[in-house]
Amino acid sequence: GQNRMAESALPAPFTVPFTPPPVASKVRSEGITDYYSLTMREQATQILPGYQTRIWGYNGSFPGPTLDVQQGREVVVRQINSLPSTHPILGYTPTTSTHLHGSASLPQFDGYASDVTYPGSWKDYRYPNSQGSRTLWYHDHGVHHTASNVYMGLAGMYRMHDPLEQSLPIPQGYYDVPLIVTDAMFDATGQLLYDDNDQSGVFGDVILVNGRPWPVMKVERRKYRFRILNASVARSYRWQLDSGEPLVVIATDAGLMTAPQSVKSLLHGNAERYEVIIDFAKYAIGRRVTLRNLSPKNNVDYTNTNKVMAFDVVAKASSISHNSIPSVLNPYNHIMALTPTDTTPTRTMALVRQSGEWTINGQTWADVVASGYTRALANPALNAVEVWEIHNDSGGWHHPMHIHLVDFKVLDREFDRNGVRVPPRPPERGAKDVVYVGENERVRLITQFGPHRGRYMIHCHNLVHEDHDMMGQFTVGEGGY
Ligand code: C2O
Ligand code: CU
Repeated sequence: GQNRMAESALPAPFTVPFTPPPVASKVRSEGITDYYSLTMREQATQILPGYQTRIWGYNGSFPGPTLDVQQGREVVVRQINSLPSTHPILGYTPTTSTHLHGSASLPQFDGYASDVTYPGSWKDYRYPNSQGSRTLWYHDHGVHHTASNVYMGLAGMYRMHDPLEQSLPIPQGYYDVPLIVTDAMFDATGQLLYDDNDQSGVFGDVILVNGRPWPVMKVERRKYRFRILNASVARSYRWQLDSGEPLVVIATDAGLMTAPQSVKSLLHGNAERYEVIIDFAKYAIGRRVTLRNLSPKNNVDYTNTNKVMAFDVVAKASSISHNSIPSVLNPYNHIMALTPTDTTPTRTMALVRQSGEWTINGQTWADVVASGYTRALANPALNAVEVWEIHNDSGGWHHPMHIHLVDFKVLDREFDRNGVRVPPRPPERGAKDVVYVGENERVRLITQFGPHRGRYMIHCHNLVHEDHDMMGQFTVGEGGY
């Protein structure tokens, strides 16, 4: 039934042990190419102690296995859709399209929403991995069902390493830990409940980290690097440690920042990735530190959605190598060197809600479909540098906006159309592919359109907004403006 599990039946926060997601192993290698195979399937798995929950996972895992890849090695992932023919609550057929978020993939391998694979079929996706080190993630992007497909579990991490990153003294290996944060709601029998709240979002009362409710992690007295991915359908977070110690941000969506940014709290919208260092050497053995969520706007909150996970400091450091944060991380990112000139082309993307549908410049994905996939919001030339201004005129909602293919630099933000442009928040001062556009905000970003020609999507990464129908496309290098 649609009745939510009683709060008293949910596990108490910080009682379930933390685990990282499993790691994917390659099927074979050939020359510079590594081959993987992932099967999307339904699986009964324990999320809440004492219950078996039906999820959809890559290889049946919630979240999916992490791919660890090296810059310069090409990766081919066979995505096999072995999902059941209908969704257990919503009844639709789960056609899938897999997007590697953060990758400059060729258009045919980018998870284009309408390029779907039916249950019983598969598709090979080829990734060049020629970009700099970064935290990427792969997730379903099937047209109009992305929110429920991802909510059911179709998301996983993909870490790309490069020699610059590997030469730094920052935590690596065992001390480099994925934190994939989602929220969920369960019925009395432990099955996932889905309610899209008037097409504004899905908000659970349980916070999951790597598929575990409010887990507790044992840590040593040293620095850890956490790759935090907000894979929630709609919930945004503002992280803070209860000890009052800072979070040191070292990387954003598209890799290492120029310089680390130490913050007391960190706003984190859907699909953004922040790599954060926490130094547990500041605490005595026996101390518990908790990561909490100072809920930002537009969320539906419950008793324990202000809690995320706990760290129990249990031992001295067993290794003190890779235990520092250099003051310069990556000085070479060419996107961060872009600055607008008087002749830089500028486009505006206006976000508006019109008769229930979320639109970008008055268009929806339905308009793209109706045009035979020709209608585009923009047609930048190959390698063109452009400024895009995203205007949130939708009233009452923020939108984490994602542009496929490119990395961008956030230039500034204007609040309430007051004419004053303020610099991006310190954690946003690195290359990104998602930007949080708050209510009545106007955000300016600069980017370069390449290295591939073709059509790519732009959309809100609140996945309910994306499905209803806040997504459009742009074409690169196909003539026109
Ligand atoms: Cu992470 Cu088009 O999405
Ligand atoms: Cu949105």
